[in-house]
Amino acid sequence: MKTHKIALIPGDGIGRDVTDAAWAVLQTVATNSGFALESTQFPWSCAFYKQTGRMMPEDGIETLRSFDAILLGAVGWPAEVPDSVSLHGLLLPIRKAFVQYANIRPHRLLPGVQGPLKAEGFDILCIRENTEGEYSGAGGRVHQGMDNEVAVETSIFTRKGVERIIRFGFEQARARRGKLASVTKSNAQKYSMVFWDEITKQLATEYPDVEVTSYHVDALAARMVMAPESLDVIVASNLFGDILTDLGAAIQGGLGFAASANINPDRSAPSMFEPVHGSAPDIAGKGIANPMATIWSGAMMLDHLGERDAAARIMEALPAVTAKGIGTTPGKDSTDTITAAVIAALTAE
Ligand code: NAD
Ligand code: IPM
Ligand code: MN
Repeated sequence: MKTHKIALIPGDGIGRDVTDAAWAVLQTVATNSGFALESTQFPWSCAFYKQTGRMMPEDGIETLRSFDAILLGAVGWPAEVPDSVSLHGLLLPIRKAFVQYANIRPHRLLPGVQGPLKAEGFDILCIRENTEGEYSGAGGRVHQGMDNEVAVETSIFTRKGVERIIRFGFEQARARRGKLASVTKSNAQKYSMVFWDEITKQLATEYPDVEVTSYHVDALAARMVMAPESLDVIVASNLFGDILTDLGAAIQGGLGFAASANINPDRSAPSMFEPVHGSAPDIAGKGIANPMATIWSGAMMLDHLGERDAAARIMEALPAVTAKGIGTTPGKDSTDTITAAVIAALTAE
């Protein structure tokens, strides 16, 4: 029997609840589909940091390298560990080290879910650059605490990095409805974003079948709310993609629905699957986190691992559950209730 080796990193807050839920669903579908999923759990988190002084061991990246994929819950417990320490100690280094440059974030309104726009048929795919740009980590502070203090945070855009993500966006658009929105702020940012616009134009000649439009990110944000049906695939830089995907999550009914795949398209290292949301300290420990985003991310993981039928079965179960009104209202149904309903839908097929 085919066995996929998965590294499980529940992380902080609701991260454990949602990864437990997704794992139960994944195990069910694996058993029913005739393949095996073998997990190794890593306790890397803010609690781990408090015990060891590190978010993951020094050889953490090398340890993860031998897995077929990584499933992650959420990282961050800002009351005890600054986000700048926790995220730069665990999540962001994994994305970079494993060249997971394509962050795929689908936004669809599932049946029965009341999004704030009541945008029926809302279906956008956001492709976010995931390894450079505004998240380069380059910069510094001088004269800390003084009146003349200066903080510099340098965005780094490389031709290789920009080309590969825009090309990825074109490919995704070609496989969907043939429309690509390339997002910049080239009216204000005259180097990196003009560079991005130029590369979009250059690549467009290779994809005559894709209708590409360049938008400024502010206008695109408004368009996502006012005319979401005019959009298909969006390709954006790291920070713009981050912001637009929380907006996409809101339109699809909340952060509990938004899935995310950090893909290494060359398959030279494992890809990582996680919800768009964070550790949600405000609801942690209450048992009411919506696990659908992580279950959906788990389906994206199966798809990436070549288990297309199993992934499709999960993606049929989720709307079957929401259509019954289960999991559609934040806080109404427990994590366990929603998980059990997804498993029941899978086994009822
Ligand atoms: P958040 O996504 O954790 O929470 C924002 C809001 O959405 C909260 O009201 C929360 O209750 C709600 N929410 C999130 N997930 C939900 C779910 N599954 N079901 C129901 N409601 C849900 O964002 P935040 O509060 O800005 O961040 C909290 C911590 O998580 C911070 O440390 C932040 O840096 C970190 N974070 C981590 C990741 C990640 O690991 N990928 C992503 C985002 C934020
Ligand atoms: C996300 C998160 C992360 C990001 C944070 C926690 C660093 O918001 O995955 O969307 O900005 O990439
Ligand atoms: Mn985010």
